[in-house]
Amino acid sequence: MKSSASPLLSPLLPSPVSSPAPLISFIDLQPDVGRFLDDVLAGLAASPKALSPKYFYDARGSELFEAICELPEYYPTRTELALMRDQAAEMAAQIGEGGLLIEFGSGASIKTEVLLHTLRPVAYVPIEIAAEALQASTTRLAAEFPQLPIIAVCADYMQPLRLPQLALIKASRRVIYFPGSTIGNLTPAEAQAFLVRALELAGPGGAMLIGVDLKKDPELLHAAYNDAQGVTAEFNLNLLRRMNRELAADFDLDRFRHVAFYNAAAGRIEMHLESLCEQTVTVSGRSFVFGAGERMHTENSCKYSVAEFQRLAQAAGFRPEQVWVDAASLFSVHLLCA
Ligand SMILES: C[S@@+](CC[C@H](N)C(=O)[O-])C[C@H]1O[C@@H](n2cnc3c(N)ncnc32)[C@H](O)[C@@H]1O
Repeated sequence: MKSSASPLLSPLLPSPVSSPAPLISFIDLQPDVGRFLDDVLAGLAASPKALSPKYFYDARGSELFEAICELPEYYPTRTELALMRDQAAEMAAQIGEGGLLIEFGSGASIKTEVLLHTLRPVAYVPIEIAAEALQASTTRLAAEFPQLPIIAVCADYMQPLRLPQLALIKASRRVIYFPGSTIGNLTPAEAQAFLVRALELAGPGGAMLIGVDLKKDPELLHAAYNDAQGVTAEFNLNLLRRMNRELAADFDLDRFRHVAFYNAAAGRIEMHLESLCEQTVTVSGRSFVFGAGERMHTENSCKYSVAEFQRLAQAAGFRPEQVWVDAASLFSVHLLCA
């Protein structure tokens, strides 16, 4: 990781016209390619082979994720967004204005935009691993909210983060936002540990607003991760393209296929890349043998009932305050208090 904070976007020069300059600063703690390589080599040497979903999000991966969000089969984004549009005023009333809003995995920040209108925080701190997506979303938000200070942090939120800048911001409370059911990418044990760290970051009196996908008819889940247009397959396979480009790997994309299914016992969708034949792949000079039909596990998306998630949050030390669920019981947004 690069240790210094580089003011990549800040301070922007004062605009010659009368509108105020956007108040963006950019802290670059993005994991470097060496970390990516170490993780991939360890994941391919493991049995079964596994790769972290955080590496899906190069520029193309972020674009593909936004395309997934528009798919007719992919209910989570439009359901959560509708919940935010319907309930953002009540959420803000419960949370209170003047907080410091910190978001994990902000991506395009579409739902955040809705929240910012009602919550009126003193500053916004998106923490996102994908530099391109972070830069695009903060530039868009700065144009829409020119008075809002934005501290954009390009970092892996699974790593310990030192952000002394945040201590200087006077706010009524810290509010952590984690939409998109991204928490589902972690196993329940990892999710609990993550929530413990989020609680520490929130501090006394802090709050967390978190989107969590609900358990439901497995057929609906299956369709959401196996769309007819093949965009999710393209998203999954793009990880191979990324490794070829960044890690001098030689994956042949025609020799792997996207596999996604609901594992009912574990309560999660699993995504894998399956080798279509016996083959050897090289990554930065290291060889890895794949058997025909052998799979690399690329993502989990854990689903929770409201009660299951509340138990998890309580075990991490949060107090569940309120939960909003859509009429079809597809998706939940929880307000947790420290
Ligand atoms: C499922 S998408 C959700 C995006 C957006 N929050 C939404 O609700 O549509 C997950 C986002 O988290 C980011 N992300 C995934 N793992 C991350 C990590 N370990 N650290 C920081 N960002 C991460 C991805 O780049 C992506 O933008």
